[in-house]
Amino acid sequence: KIPMQQLIRGRVLDFHADPHDTADNHRYIQDGAILIEDGKILAVDDYTALAREGLVEIDHRPHLILPGFIDTHIHFPQVQVIASWGAQLLDWLNTYTFPEEERFNQQGHAPAMADAFLNLLTGHGTTTAVAFCSVHPESAEALFSAAHARNMAMVAGKVMMDRNAPDAVLDTPQRGYDDSKALIARWHGTGRQRYAITPRFAITSTPEQMAMAGQLVREHPDCHVQTHLSENLEEIDFTLSLYPQARDYLDIYETHGLLSDRLLLGHSIHLRPREIARMAETGSRAVFCPTSNLFLGSGLFDEGGLRAAGVVSGIATDVGGGTSYSMLQTLNEGYKILQLRGQKLTPLSAFHWITRGNALALGMEDRIGTLAPGSMADLVVLDSRATPAMALRMERAETLEQELFILQIMGDDRSVAQTYVAGQAMKTAV
Ligand code: GUN
Ligand code: ZN
Repeated sequence: KIPMQQLIRGRVLDFHADPHDTADNHRYIQDGAILIEDGKILAVDDYTALAREGLVEIDHRPHLILPGFIDTHIHFPQVQVIASWGAQLLDWLNTYTFPEEERFNQQGHAPAMADAFLNLLTGHGTTTAVAFCSVHPESAEALFSAAHARNMAMVAGKVMMDRNAPDAVLDTPQRGYDDSKALIARWHGTGRQRYAITPRFAITSTPEQMAMAGQLVREHPDCHVQTHLSENLEEIDFTLSLYPQARDYLDIYETHGLLSDRLLLGHSIHLRPREIARMAETGSRAVFCPTSNLFLGSGLFDEGGLRAAGVVSGIATDVGGGTSYSMLQTLNEGYKILQLRGQKLTPLSAFHWITRGNALALGMEDRIGTLAPGSMADLVVLDSRATPAMALRMERAETLEQELFILQIMGDDRSVAQTYVAGQAMKTAV
C-alpha cells in the first residue's frame, strides 16, 4: 500500500533540454528530494525545503535518483531468444525467433512471460517500454494486463505478419486488422496503456496487410506505429524484391500511409538520402539498437548524420536481438558504435537520451522522462559503486559527468538500487 504522500531523498538529476542544444540542460540537487502524491510528482527541491513532520520518507542517499529509463524498442516474446548463437537477421528470425514466438498461443505461457518480462524491465530500471508482442492477440492481452496491474506505462502491439514465416505465427490482412482493432478498443488509453500498430516489417506483410495497417493508422492517429527499417543488407535486398515498385525501403511504409511523428523505425541503419529526408520531413523516428546491431552484425547507426538531417532518434535494447535489458549497457555499446563512426556520446547526452530524449521520441514528455511536477513518479535509483570495480573507479571520479560516464560504461542491473513505478517501489527491500 502506497502512502498518499511520500518524500524520496537522494541526489536528484533530471533534464529539461537536450545537451546537444544548450549547456543549460539539467538540474542536479546534491541533497534533493521528490515529493510524491498518489503516484505523481508534486515537487522536486532541496530536501530541507520539502521535509516536514509526519511525512513518510525514503532515504536513498548517497545514490542518484533519475526519471525511470525508457526503452523504445523491445520484443516481449523474445525473453527466451536472447543470446541465441551465430546468425544474422534473417537466419536468426527463421532459426530461433519465429519458432519461439509460436509458443505464445499456448495456454498460460504469455501471462507467465509477461510477469517475468516486466520484472526484468523494472529490475534494470526501465519503467516504460515500447514492445512488439507476438502475432497472437493473447500475447498483447497478457502484457497489457500485467502492466496495467502494476500501473506501468507500456506502449505495445501485436505484430501483424501474413507471409514469410511459419503458419503458426501468421495472421491474415483481415485478422491482423480485426485483432489490432479489438486490442486498441480494449487497451489504448486504459490507465497508462497505449497501443502501437505493429506491422512487423515489410518482409512479413503483404501489400494487402500493409494497406490494412495504413487503414488502422488513419482510424487511430493517436496510436503509435512501430516497425523495422533497413537493419541488414540482405533484409533490404529481399524487401525491395518483394515490393518492386518501391523507390526504397521507407517508400513501402510511406506509400501505405504509415509515416508520421508517431512512427518508430527500429534500426534505420543503411538509409538512402531520400529516406533520411522523408523521415525528417514527416517527423518519423529512428530507433538506435546498439547491442542488437553488434550482436546480429547489422551495422553502425549514424546518430550524428540523422541528427544533422533533423531526424529524431530514440535508443533501445531490442531484446532478444539485443543482448541486455539494461539501458546502461545499451549506452555502453552505443558509445562504442559512435566511436567507430567518429562520433561522441557524452554522459549528459546519454542520460538525457534514455530519459527525456526517449520520452520526446514518443511524444510523451508531458508524462514521463522528467521529474517535472505532474509527471508520473517513475524513478530509478542508481548506485555508482554497485560492484567492486565501479567502487574502485569511483574513488577517482571528481565530477557528476565522470560518475555518469562510469555508470554509462560499467553499470547494469546491479547499479539499480530501486525502481519506482507510479510511486510504488518495484524491488523488494533487502
Ligand atoms: N526485423 C523483423 N523482426 C525483427 C525482430 O524480431 N528483431 C530484429 N532485430 N529485427 C527484426
Ligand atoms: Zn526489433
